[in-house]
Amino acid sequence: MTGPPRHVACVMDGNGRWAARRALPRTAGHAAAEAAVIDTIEAAHAAGVEWLSLYAFSTENWRRPATEVDFLMRLVRRTVRKHALTLHARGVRCRFLGAADPRVPPPLARDIADLMELTRDNRRLTLTVAFDHGGRRDIVAAARALIRDGVPAEQVTEESFARHLPHPDMPDVDLVIRTSGEQRISNFLLWQVAYAEWMFPRVLWPDFRAGHFWECLDAYRRRERRFGAVPAPATTEERTR
Ligand code: IPE
Ligand code: IPE
Ligand code: MG
Repeated sequence: MTGPPRHVACVMDGNGRWAARRALPRTAGHAAAEAAVIDTIEAAHAAGVEWLSLYAFSTENWRRPATEVDFLMRLVRRTVRKHALTLHARGVRCRFLGAADPRVPPPLARDIADLMELTRDNRRLTLTVAFDHGGRRDIVAAARALIRDGVPAEQVTEESFARHLPHPDMPDVDLVIRTSGEQRISNFLLWQVAYAEWMFPRVLWPDFRAGHFWECLDAYRRRERRFGAVPAPATTEERTR
């Protein structure tokens, strides 16, 4: 039995397929994803999860058609503006990983900065939106920062390296949930997922709701996390069960 996950990270996948099944444009799937995002934040908040990270846009997603990318930028801006005050009232600290690309429209970059500033002192739940994020890019950024700081090679350790990542206070991910049945990492928080547990519910992201989130937390609690060690000896109670 494992306690509740401190850090849950979701790869919000399947919007396009959700729309295709309804003969709708892909953008309709993205629009429908907003409800799943809000439900998931509420569920994590209620479950006492301290860190929730949502993969919203990868460095590779710039390869999509310009109309889809534009739609996503406008959708993120609308969602940020619509929910900023509620998130703040709920004690959610909002952060964005990435978002430094000059292709991110300046009004969206401003709204993101405003939301981060508004919520910076909240501690109930830290919501990290991985937006224009790439795990490899973050690792390269950390390597550059170490070199810039003049850290000698023999002082580069896992700990000092991690301190140079963007958002170095982010704890390791305990549980990754990737919807839509796809089973891959797609360049998400590569450093932080080293020892994460993984769940691949088949539900498409726009249909993902608090109930699905709770099911993943239940399954997580039944997993045994060993971190390379041997299983803990069974307690008397477990042996006699
Ligand atoms: C995830 O849904 C959303 C983003 C990557 C922005 P997809 O758009 O990847 O949906 P599928 O995988 O095509 O169904
Ligand atoms: C990963 O999903 C990125 C996000 C969910 C934002 P993709 O749908 O872009 O990933 P691939 O292309 O299937 O690996
Ligand atoms: Mg996808």
